[in-house]
Amino acid sequence: MSEISPPPHQPNVPAPAPAPPVDRAPAAAAALPQAGPDEVALLIDDRPVVAKKGATVLQAAEKAGVLVPHYCYHPGLSIAGNCRMCLVEIEKMPKLQIACATAAAPGMVVRTANDRVRGVRAGIQEFLLINHPLDCPICDQAGECRLQAYESAYGQGYSRFEEEKVHSPKRYDIGRDVKFDAERCIKCTRCIRFCDEVSLSHELGLFQRGDHAIIGTFPGRPLDNPYSGCTVDVCPVGALTWKPFRFKSRVWFLKNIPTVCAGCARGCNVDLATFRDRIHRMTPRANPDVNRYWMCDEGRESYAELYERPRFESPVERPAPGDRVEPRDASAPEPESPWDPALDRAAALLRAVAERHGPKGLAAIVSARLTIEDLYVAKRVLGDLLGVPRLAVPPHEAGEDDHLLLRRDKTPNARGADTVGIGAPSAGRVKEILEDAVLGHVRGLVVVGEDLTGLPGYSESLYEKLEALVVIDWWKSPTVDRAHVALPACGYGEFEGTMINFQGRVQRLRAGLRPQGEADPVWRILRDLGYRFGLSSEYPTPRAVFEDAAAKIAALSGLSYRALGDLGAPLAAARERTVGAPAPGA
Ligand code: SF4
Ligand code: SF4
Ligand code: FES
Repeated sequence: MSEISPPPHQPNVPAPAPAPPVDRAPAAAAALPQAGPDEVALLIDDRPVVAKKGATVLQAAEKAGVLVPHYCYHPGLSIAGNCRMCLVEIEKMPKLQIACATAAAPGMVVRTANDRVRGVRAGIQEFLLINHPLDCPICDQAGECRLQAYESAYGQGYSRFEEEKVHSPKRYDIGRDVKFDAERCIKCTRCIRFCDEVSLSHELGLFQRGDHAIIGTFPGRPLDNPYSGCTVDVCPVGALTWKPFRFKSRVWFLKNIPTVCAGCARGCNVDLATFRDRIHRMTPRANPDVNRYWMCDEGRESYAELYERPRFESPVERPAPGDRVEPRDASAPEPESPWDPALDRAAALLRAVAERHGPKGLAAIVSARLTIEDLYVAKRVLGDLLGVPRLAVPPHEAGEDDHLLLRRDKTPNARGADTVGIGAPSAGRVKEILEDAVLGHVRGLVVVGEDLTGLPGYSESLYEKLEALVVIDWWKSPTVDRAHVALPACGYGEFEGTMINFQGRVQRLRAGLRPQGEADPVWRILRDLGYRFGLSSEYPTPRAVFEDAAAKIAALSGLSYRALGDLGAPLAAARERTVGAPAPGA
C-alpha cells in the first residue's frame, strides 16, 4: 500500500459520502483473498482486502475504498488515537476498536458502518459539539471542516445539551501567520504532533484538563517555525487559520490547480487555489517522493509577490544605437507595440550585431526559473539557430538546506537548464559575459527572466556598449527599463511546463490564471523569434515542445506529459537506477 493516503486527508478535499449501512451476516471465511508473505487478507464491510503487514484497519479500509471517518489520524504523523471517531466493529472483539490504531490481522472481519458503529459515531459527534461554538457561517474552514462533513454524514442533527458551553479565547495570534480559535479546537493534537515530529520546533502543547484543556504555545515561543502553515493544513476543523487567507474566499469558490512550487529546487507539489483569476492560497499536495504532505511558509506565501511587484504588459521598444528613431519625450507614455513589429525588431537588432561583430559578439543570460520547454526552445533558437556561443544561467542561493524541505538553491529548474544542454547555473560564466559587455566584446545580449543588476560582473556602464539588448521577463525591472526590445512573459500560474527538481524528478507546472495583459509564455516568444531565424519546428503547445525534447535528449527519453501525471517521474538515469524507490536525497 502506498504510504500516501488518498484525498480525504487533504484538508481542502471534502469528505466523500459515507458508505451505506451494511448490517449483514458475517461473510464466510472462504471469501478471503490470497495474501503474500508480507500481506494480510481481511474482510471490511464484506469486501475482501489485501493490505501490507503492519497496516492499520483504517489504512486497509482506505485501500478498499471504505471511508472510516477520523479526526486525529493523519498519515504523516504518529497515531494518537484520541478522537475515537474511527471506532469500528471487529468480529470476536466485544468492544468497538479504533481503526487508526488497530493493526489489520489475517482473517479479520471488520464492520465500519453498521447500526452499532453509526450510533457510536453520532455519540462522538454529539460529544465533540457540546462545547463547540458552531460559528460555521463565519468560520473560514466552512466547506472543508471535518466536523461539518461528518455531522451531516453521521451526526444525529440535534443537541440535548442545554447548559452554558465552556468559553475559550477566540481569534488570537498564535504565531506570525496563524490565528487560533480555542473554542473550535477538538484537541486532536495533530498540530502538536506536527511541531514535535515534522518541523521539530516543539512550540505547541496541550494544557489544562477535561473540558478546559487548551492548545497553546510555551511562554515566549510563538508558533514561528518555517513550516507553521502546515499546522493549519492538518487542523481538521477551523481552529487554526492562515492569516493571509482568512476571509479571502469561501473554499467552494476556489479552483484547485495541481502544480509545483517554484520557490526552490525542491519543487514541492502544491494546489494553487484560484478564484476570479487570482491566486488565493497555496497548499501542499501529497507526493511521497518529494514533499510528503508538507510545504514551507516561504513557498506558501510566494504567490503574493505576483501582486506586489509591477508587471509590464505589452512589448516595449526603445531606440538602440544606430537606430534612426527620434528620442522619446520623457513625459510621454511608454510606447507600446504589438508583438510582430517588436519581434521583427528584436531579430533585426540581433542579426545586425552578428553581421557587424560575428556571433562572438552575442551572448545570452537565461534564468533557471524557466521551464524545460522555455529552456529547450532558448537553446534551439539562441544557441543552434542564431549561433550565440555563450548561454549562461545565474545561480540564486539563499539560506541553507534544512532538515525537511527547504533548499538553499532557489532556482527551481537548475537541473533542467543542465539537461537541455545550456549548462548548470554558474556565477563565473555570467560574470564573464557581463564583464565582456563592459569591455565591448559582447554587443548583443538576450536576457530571459533575469534582472542584470545584482548579477556578478554587472556594471551600469555595460549598457553604453550594447547595440542590442533584448529582454524577456514577467516583472518590470531596471534591465527591462534599459532594453531596446522588452517582451512581456507569463508569470507563475499563467504558464504550463515542466521543471526538474534537485533530485532529478521531472514535474509538471500547470496554469490556473489568464496571462496578464499581452504576456505570452517564454517558449512561445522564443519560438516566434526563432521563426525569424529559420526555425521550422511546429511547436503549437508546451506538450509538443516537451515531446520534441524527450525525443532528442536521452535523459528525458520515455517521458511525456501523460507519463509525468500529477506526481512527476524521475529522469532516465534515476529510472534505471531505482525502480519504485524514492529518488536519492528525498
Ligand atoms: S488546533 Fe486543530 S489540529 Fe490542533 S488540536 Fe485543535 S483541532 Fe487539532
Ligand atoms: S521547500 Fe521550496 S519548493 Fe517546497 S514549498 Fe518551500 S520554497 Fe516551495
Ligand atoms: S482517528 Fe482514530 S481515534 Fe482519532
